Amino acid sequence: MDFSFAERMDHIGTEGAFEVLARARALEAQGKDIVHLEIGEPDFPTPANIVERAARAMREGATHYTPASGIMEVRESTAAYVERRTGVKVPASHVVLTPGSKNILFFALLSLVNPGDEVIYPDPGYPIYHSLINFIGGKAVASPIRERNDFRLDIDELRSLITDRTKVIIINTPANPTGGVLTKEDCVAIAELVHERNLVVISDEIYGRLTYGTDHVSLFAQDGMPERTILMDGMSKAWAMCGWRLGFGVMPEPIAKKMDTLMINTSSCAAAFTQWAATEAFESEESDAAVTAMVNEFHKRRDVIVDGLNAIPGFRCHRPQGAFYVFPNVEETGWNEGELAKTLLEEGGVGVLAGTAFGDHGKGYIRLSYANSIANIEKALDRITSHVASRHPVHS
Ligand SMILES: Cc1ncc(COP(=O)(O)O)c(C=O)c1O
Repeated sequence: MDFSFAERMDHIGTEGAFEVLARARALEAQGKDIVHLEIGEPDFPTPANIVERAARAMREGATHYTPASGIMEVRESTAAYVERRTGVKVPASHVVLTPGSKNILFFALLSLVNPGDEVIYPDPGYPIYHSLINFIGGKAVASPIRERNDFRLDIDELRSLITDRTKVIIINTPANPTGGVLTKEDCVAIAELVHERNLVVISDEIYGRLTYGTDHVSLFAQDGMPERTILMDGMSKAWAMCGWRLGFGVMPEPIAKKMDTLMINTSSCAAAFTQWAATEAFESEESDAAVTAMVNEFHKRRDVIVDGLNAIPGFRCHRPQGAFYVFPNVEETGWNEGELAKTLLEEGGVGVLAGTAFGDHGKGYIRLSYANSIANIEKALDRITSHVASRHPVHS
């Protein structure tokens, strides 16, 4: 049957990680051994005390609808957590809880962007930015993120992209796919710029707890920013809770009210027991210790993977200070990134993503996630080394 799909579906993109994961699973079903470095998901279990808090909540009857923006006590707990992290006084009415932080992004764009309005987003960047901007009819304007600038946004370049139609700027620090982090000076300069041009910022700080040898600088926390920023964060990465689906946003109250309406019209609310589990994540020392242990382990893995990749002829890998991704340049291998990623999965037994899955400026790069054990990372490094040494590049 011809469903003659709505025209808007021509404008939505996808996330390469999910597609590569599906292909990797299909290969595994055929008996192939794959090392998964394609997925952006911590391999650690959710800390046991958080699981127990959710189980208790369920036993105590937290199995019903909640208010659309979240249970008030949980919003208060979230506000207090953000306040502790950023030093910014956050009223609970500015907090919205959604099933995953992706919804904060979607709802923010739906609330603010009219067809034709320009939204500046990082390239390479999380592919959902570009996808959703296009989906809602906004004009996506790529802000290049370059290795020579340590994968930090270039403020002068950002300034040059702003026009009278610019409505929103999306900033992501620490960043997917590069692991780049913004400095205090960067954040101050961005804050000044958006003030001057009267813009709204979506600040995606979901990897904010995952930094190595440096502290996370929150753009939301800069002078004047809480009045014009939608802080996007969630449980997925820091507490290894991807499958729980809980994100949170902090934003000016008028925007929070729009999000409440959008929640009423879509999910109704985030899962009740998941919300209670978040209070345990925010408030208990045990959860904090678990995050610290995960961060220490990611730090070790980062060094193993960066050193290992730099030892492969033709690879050049920057040492990122955040998230759990590396973004090596592979041009000197003679491979193009798409073919390398494809053959590594199909023949080499390693799942990675082509840099171009994150935008045109990812050309020449691949992304590897080090949310996997050191043993598996070492196995992957061996496989990549022999693949590159033995297999001649193909170009489509
Ligand atoms: C930069 C970035 N933002 C947001 C998300 C979405 O996270 P979630 O919807 O699980 O909260 C991801 C997930 O990979 C991400 O990499």
